[in-house]
Amino acid sequence: MKNKVFIFDTTLRDGEQVPGCQLNTIEKIQVAKSLDALGVDIIEAGFPISSPGDLKSIQELSKVITRPVICALSRAIKEDIDAAVESLQFAKRKRIHTFISSSDVHIKYQFKSTREKIMEQGIEAVKYAKKFAEDVEFSAMDAGRSDNAFLAKFIESAIKAGATTVNIPDTTGYCLPDEFGTKIKYLFENVKGIDRVIVSIHCHNDLGLATANSIAAVQNGARQIEVTVNGVGERAGNTSLEEAVMILKTREDLHATTNINTKKIYATSRLVSQLMRIPVQANKAIVGRNAFAHSSGIHQNGILKNRLNYEVMDPKDVGIKTSSLILTARSGRSALRHHLDRLGYKVSQKKLDETYQKFLVLADKKKDINDEDLRILMGDTNGKKGLVLSLLEVVCGFPLKPMATVKLQVNGKEIVATSHGNGPIDASFNAINDIVKKQADLEEFLIQAITKGSDDIGKVHIQLKHKGNIYYGFGADTDIVVASVKAYLNGLNKLI
Ligand code: KIV
Ligand code: ZN
Repeated sequence: MKNKVFIFDTTLRDGEQVPGCQLNTIEKIQVAKSLDALGVDIIEAGFPISSPGDLKSIQELSKVITRPVICALSRAIKEDIDAAVESLQFAKRKRIHTFISSSDVHIKYQFKSTREKIMEQGIEAVKYAKKFAEDVEFSAMDAGRSDNAFLAKFIESAIKAGATTVNIPDTTGYCLPDEFGTKIKYLFENVKGIDRVIVSIHCHNDLGLATANSIAAVQNGARQIEVTVNGVGERAGNTSLEEAVMILKTREDLHATTNINTKKIYATSRLVSQLMRIPVQANKAIVGRNAFAHSSGIHQNGILKNRLNYEVMDPKDVGIKTSSLILTARSGRSALRHHLDRLGYKVSQKKLDETYQKFLVLADKKKDINDEDLRILMGDTNGKKGLVLSLLEVVCGFPLKPMATVKLQVNGKEIVATSHGNGPIDASFNAINDIVKKQADLEEFLIQAITKGSDDIGKVHIQLKHKGNIYYGFGADTDIVVASVKAYLNGLNKLI
C-alpha cells in the first residue's frame, strides 16, 4: 500500500512574497483554480495581516474554490490569527497556520527572547487558533537549524495544544538531505502523539537542496510537502511542486502517492510563470523548455530507438505532448533522418549522407536548425522562403499612440502594413498579423538583457500556439522592438 502524501501549495503565499510577483485578486483566483484542477490538497492563499488586499483576496478566493482546504498564515500573535479568521470566513474547508521560530539564532537575534518564552507564545497561538478552526497547522520556523531535543519538546506541546499538522521548515535551506531526514526520524521517535497528526515539511532552496530534503523527509515519515509551482518563493525559492510530485510518481520504490493530476503540471507552470512574470529556466527539471529536448547525437539516436534510453518520465505525464530532438551541430544522422521523415522527405542512405554534410556546415554557423532550413538543404525552396523582414519603422513616445509599419517578403513578394498598438512591439506584431492574417496566439513573451547597460543586446523568446502546437521563436538585437519582431517572425516561419 502506498502512503498518501498531501500537497500543500504555497505559491500564493511564500511564492507571492517575491518582489515583482504580486498578483491581483483575479490572478490569484486564476492560479487557485488551476491548483484546484491540478489536485493540490491545501492552498495557502496568503498572509492576511500583511495587507487588507491580501485578506480580501483570500475571502474572494474562498468563495470560488471549495474542494481544497484554504489556509491562511499568521504569526503567533492574536491580531494575526484574528485576521486569518476573518480572511477564512467564507472558506468551506479552512486551516489556520501559525508559526514562530524554534532556532536559537532566531530566538536570540530576531526575537531577542528565550526558548521558554517563545515556546509559550507558540503554544498560546495554537490554543487561540483552535477556538476558530479544527484544522490548525503549527510551524517551527527555522526548524532546520534548531536543536532537535528542543524542537521535539516544542512540537509535542503544539500537538497537545491542538495542532493537527506540525510543519518542520528548513527556512534557510541549510540542511543536507541525510541530516533533514534524520531530524524527521528523531521527531517520530521522540515526540509523544506525533502519530495522531500530519508531519509536514517546508524546504527552501538556498543550497539547491529543497526537493532533496523534502524527499528525505518523506522517506522518514513526513506526509505533507509544502511546495510552490516552478519552485518560486523567497530568495532561491521553495521545493517545486512539479519536482516533488514527479519524484514520488516516478520512484515507485518510495511507496508514496499524491492526489495530483500530473497531466496538468505543464499548463499550471505556464500560467504561474506568465502571471508572476518569472520565466522558467530552460533547464528546469520537469517544466523547463529543455526538460524533454535532446540535442546530442548519441542521446537522439538512443531516444529514437527507445524513449526509455534517456527519459525517466513520459513527457505526456506532465502535459507536454512529446519530447523533441533539437537539431544542432551535435546531432547525428538518425535525428536528421527523423526530422526529414517528419517533413515528408524519404531519403536514401546516400542522400542522407550528403545532406548531413551540408547540415553540419550550416549547423556550425547557425545554432538551431529549423524546418525551413531543412527544406532549403533539401533544395526544396519551392519558391518560398517564408517571412523575411525588409523594413520596420516605428513611431512612439508620449503622448503618441504607437504605430508601426512593417514590410515583409512573403514567399518572395513584398507586402507592407501599418498598424497601431498599446506599445511599439504590439503595433509591430499587429502590422505583421495584418500581413499574415493572424496565424497564431502569443503564449509567452520574454525579453532578456545580456549585460545591464542601456546599449545592451536584447534577447527575445516567444512561444506561439497554433492548432494545439507550440512554436518557439527567438530574436536578438540592440533594439528590443527589432528583436521582438525577429522572434515573432522566427516563430511564424516555423509554423508556416
Ligand atoms: O520558510 C518558512 O519557515 C515559512 C514559514 C512561515 C512556514 O515560510
Ligand atoms: Zn517559507
